[in-house]
Amino acid sequence: MSNKVNFRRLIAGLGLCGILATVALLVQSCSTVDRSVVTPPVIEGANFVGDKVCIDCHPKITRAFPASPHSRLHLESVKAAGQHGCESCHGPASKHVAIGGAGREKFITNPGKDPAACYECHQDINAEFHLPQHHPVTEGKMNCVQCHDPHGLDIMKPARGFAMSRLNESCGECHREQTRPFVFEHAAMREGCITCHNPHGSINAKLLTIRDSNLCLRCHAQTRRPDAGAALFIGNVEHTGYVRYGTCWTSGCHSSIHGSNTQPYYFY
Ligand code: HEC
Ligand code: HEC
Ligand code: HEC
Ligand code: HEC
Ligand code: HEC
Ligand code: HEC
Ligand code: HEC
Repeated sequence: MSNKVNFRRLIAGLGLCGILATVALLVQSCSTVDRSVVTPPVIEGANFVGDKVCIDCHPKITRAFPASPHSRLHLESVKAAGQHGCESCHGPASKHVAIGGAGREKFITNPGKDPAACYECHQDINAEFHLPQHHPVTEGKMNCVQCHDPHGLDIMKPARGFAMSRLNESCGECHREQTRPFVFEHAAMREGCITCHNPHGSINAKLLTIRDSNLCLRCHAQTRRPDAGAALFIGNVEHTGYVRYGTCWTSGCHSSIHGSNTQPYYFY
């Protein structure tokens, strides 16, 4: 997930630093989204009609859309029809409009059913969903909108989710076991599920960002104590004899890492 260019920052950059900063930011964003390969979904014989046409029949979505990060794509240099706005995801809509939306599947693309339209711009995400461990989007059992609202203000919540739902809560809709309240909470959870999991895919089991104990040692320093015969400490507990049993969570030790109702070190 390198080189992420946040739209809020892009806009701030436009206002504050003028042309030079804008150019720099655009160059950066081009590294993730190469416009030369962006081809909007193809619909045989149809033309682009522009967002204003949609409002007559889809007023709710069209009014919400200007708050969405994707509505700001027109700030970027290329303004070819279909590379921004509704039709960048849904394809040219003239036929869809001409028949008043009838036969909808035939003349309009719905990336809620097939993420191909998203991958036109987000090829890196396509690659993530092809890693050995991934959420089953490629298999057609899940889709982007279960985690990303394509039209509204907050793209990091599910399309039909609650207004306040974000990151951890979004995951909790399907993973209740990890998101329920615990007597002994692990403070790491407050940083969000994505401190330890890649949401799209990973080469590591359980979508982990790091496969070994370094996942934990980022936050829990490992120290040698000369005063205790160079013993290995993690936290205030001597771990010299423990670390050879495997990772912190597969060794039979911290196996309830999301929290526990009975054990303050999350053993079970
Ligand atoms: C003349 C009215 C009309 C206009 C204009 C119109 N649509 Fe539609 N659209 C419809 C109707 C009717 C449906 C079916 C809605 C339903 O069944 O809930 C529909 C459905 C859709 C769907 C859902 C397709 C699916 O497979 O579920 C999408 C996406 C869509 N429209 C996009 C657009 C976009 C983008 C525009 C503007 C470029 C647009 N529409 C303009 C009438 C219209
Ligand atoms: C970033 C890509 C993207 C853009 C841009 C986009 N949409 Fe969508 N649209 C989607 C996805 C994904 C779905 C499927 C949503 C779902 O299943 O909940 C969808 C669904 C729809 C539907 C079907 C109704 C529904 O809620 O399922 C309509 C109508 C629609 N979009 C219209 C529009 C209009 C009008 C615009 C511009 C104002 C627009 N879309 C811009 C991705 C996009
Ligand atoms: C026409 C190109 C295009 C299409 C199609 C497109 N996106 Fe994007 N999207 C972008 C650009 C450009 C950015 C901002 C730069 C970046 O993050 O690389 C972005 C950003 C995002 C972000 C991060 C926003 C943030 O605030 O950090 C998400 C999530 C996202 N897109 C999801 C989707 C999904 C889901 C679809 C399909 C329904 C989709 N995109 C279709 C171009 C596109
Ligand atoms: C299981 C939930 C989930 C699904 C399904 C999902 N995403 Fe994401 N996505 C996330 C989360 C969480 C983040 C925030 C990651 C971060 O901030 O490090 C994210 C970030 C992104 C970003 C911006 C950061 C980046 O990596 O460039 C884009 C673009 C994106 N997703 C596109 C998509 C597309 C396209 C799909 C469908 C093919 C999709 N996502 C499906 C949860 C999901
Ligand atoms: C719409 C439902 C849904 C949402 C939302 C969702 N997941 Fe999942 N998750 C699944 C499914 C389905 C699987 C695959 C289970 C399987 O293959 O047995 C899965 C698998 C996983 C796994 C791997 C489990 C294993 O045994 O390998 C992890 C870790 C995970 N999800 C974390 C997350 C995180 C973090 C989020 C939020 C960013 C999230 N999930 C959001 C449905 C969801
Ligand atoms: C401190 C790191 C960390 C955080 C934060 C974290 N996880 Fe995990 N998660 C792990 C580890 C380690 C495993 C593998 C051990 C296991 O199966 O419990 C795991 C496993 C999982 C699994 C697979 C469980 C199974 O039985 O196969 C799911 C699903 C999951 N996590 C979801 C989540 C969700 C949802 C969140 C956020 C609410 C989250 N995780 C936050 C470290 C973390
Ligand atoms: C994002 C940082 C972060 C990550 C990653 C993380 N933790 Fe924690 N963990 C904390 C914080 C903060 C506490 C609260 C205790 C404290 O103040 O030191 C804590 C508490 C604990 C405790 C309770 C003992 C104590 O010192 O209070 C254990 C055991 C623990 N973590 C194990 C793990 C394991 C095992 C992993 C890897 C799967 C892990 N942690 C990953 C931040 C993290």
